[in-house]
Amino acid sequence: MTTELTALFEAAKAAQARAYAPYSRFQVGAALRTASGAVHAGCNVENAAYPVGACAEAGALSAMVLAGDRAVVEVLVIGDGPELCTPCGACRQRLREFGASDMLIHVAGPEGVRRSFALGELLPHSFGPDNLS
Ligand code: THU
Repeated sequence: MTTELTALFEAAKAAQARAYAPYSRFQVGAALRTASGAVHAGCNVENAAYPVGACAEAGALSAMVLAGDRAVVEVLVIGDGPELCTPCGACRQRLREFGASDMLIHVAGPEGVRRSFALGELLPHSFGPDNLS
């Protein structure tokens, strides 16, 4: 892994350890790197009223916007288990707001990155800010 990707992986892994997931017991961490070079991270935060829970990607995007950053270059999501922890449909759309179709989404497990996708692969023909201009 490059130094930049390693930093993203470490940030996401640290966020995953802070996840609040008492119901699913599936802890997720996400970290994104912006055009300014900053890294912002988030974890999933579940709720006793299940649908109110928030995904890790949503938390990372909130941290980014709060910091005044907007342009996502790449994202890394980490989850345990044998399956790829790809962003859910709603989070693909959330990421779309701040990333181009070539924005990379790295999907990792505890051992490292398992696969990398371009956002356009995971959310083709998407609706974004340009549709409203
Ligand atoms: N989850 C995320 O935070 N991000 C993903 O990319 C996939 C799923 C969370 C939502 C819920 O708290 C738990 O994982 C199980 O679905």
